[in-house]
Amino acid sequence: MAIERTLSIIKPDATNRNLTGAINAKFEAAGLRIIAQKRIHLTDAQAGKFYEVHAARPFYGELCEFMSSAPVVVQVLEGEDANAKNREVMGATNPAEAAEGTIRKEFALSIGENSVHGSDAPETAAVEIAYFFSGLELVG
Ligand code: CMP
Repeated sequence: MAIERTLSIIKPDATNRNLTGAINAKFEAAGLRIIAQKRIHLTDAQAGKFYEVHAARPFYGELCEFMSSAPVVVQVLEGEDANAKNREVMGATNPAEAAEGTIRKEFALSIGENSVHGSDAPETAAVEIAYFFSGLELVG
């Protein structure tokens, strides 16, 4: 297994409910290191650019509106197999299908308001990390 980096976003439903620390505790317990982190409030256009791969989906407008509705915490997680590991810790996109003990099982409200985003592969992670962070901000 290789040491990887992955982009994580703690979404508005979670920042609204003051869950940043509880979610970070799950990452750290799983051996993921938070090597960069900042709280920002995205505009609708910034959320739209980040999620542009989903632009043709029926939920795209709702997704951008939600992601720009309140602050998010963007972060870079580092560790062995970090992309797959983070997806394991997050649980399935739909909280109704998420395994016990995962972030989405414990905290997500719905498939849209699902508390966290995580990159799906190292190649995607590189693009997503560069969207939010400069190299100088990554402190491993
Ligand atoms: P995320 O991992 O951030 O990637 C794309 C997001 O789109 C996903 O999490 C969900 O929050 C959202 N999404 C996926 N399917 C639906 C849906 N059917 N309705 C609303 N939002 C969705």
